[in-house]
Amino acid sequence: MGNILFDIKDLTHYYNGLKALDIPSLQFEKGKVYSIVGPNGAGKTTLLHILAFLLKPTSGVLLYEGNEVGRHDSRRLRMEVTLVEQNPYLFSTTVGANVAYGLKLRGLDKETIKKRVEEGLRAVGLTEMGNKSVRELSGGEVKRVALARAFVLKPKVLLLDEPLAHVDVGHTKVIEGIIKGFNQLYGTTVMLTTHDLLQATQLSDRLISMREGRIVTAKEGRW
Ligand SMILES: Nc1ncnc2c1ncn2[C@@H]1O[C@H](COP(=O)(O)OP(=O)(O)O)[C@@H](O)[C@H]1O
Ligand SMILES: [Mg+2]
Repeated sequence: MGNILFDIKDLTHYYNGLKALDIPSLQFEKGKVYSIVGPNGAGKTTLLHILAFLLKPTSGVLLYEGNEVGRHDSRRLRMEVTLVEQNPYLFSTTVGANVAYGLKLRGLDKETIKKRVEEGLRAVGLTEMGNKSVRELSGGEVKRVALARAFVLKPKVLLLDEPLAHVDVGHTKVIEGIIKGFNQLYGTTVMLTTHDLLQATQLSDRLISMREGRIVTAKEGRW
């Protein structure tokens, strides 16, 4: 029990009367890297949004560390669980200001923020880019800034929606390395979505396969 981070029971989600998610039972353990694999429309993003406390399921129960979500402080939960969206939104300012944003919200001091922003940018291979305007970035660079913005928060749980889509081959390995390193260094639980089975097997401890809103297989293993 103590090792279960999320516990899902009889969860459904409907959009305009159409069922997008139907999960009778699913558990996520602390400290693991999960890949959620499936074709477009499988319900991957919907599931991540529910785990990020951004979307309230139509029915069912979501427990986080044994507590029913919605009954207690969701602000605190959002500090622990960070989602990186598939198409991240950056503020139209500098790269550095975007990465610093969440740290400022958390009230960290200037020196710590500066250090963490530098670390974050270095981690995603964007050193020296802090003063650049986000308008000058490529799609792949936007994605890496969004990852840096999440990494610097050192969240307990990192939810990554298609983190490797539209990232050029040269940076795929870098980002894979960061995701794994993060998990090993901080014990961060990671759930990422992908439609690339090979990538999923290389990156994760556990594989959850989805189709039409349902879990098809939840495998444990090594590849
Ligand atoms: N905001 C929305 N409004 C209506 N339908 C949606 C919305 N978001 C997703 N859906 C539908 O829910 C289903 C699951 O979508 P999604 O969770 O985005 O799947 P995936 O991320 O696996 O591609 C799809 O049929 C999709 O069309
Ligand atoms: Mg999606």
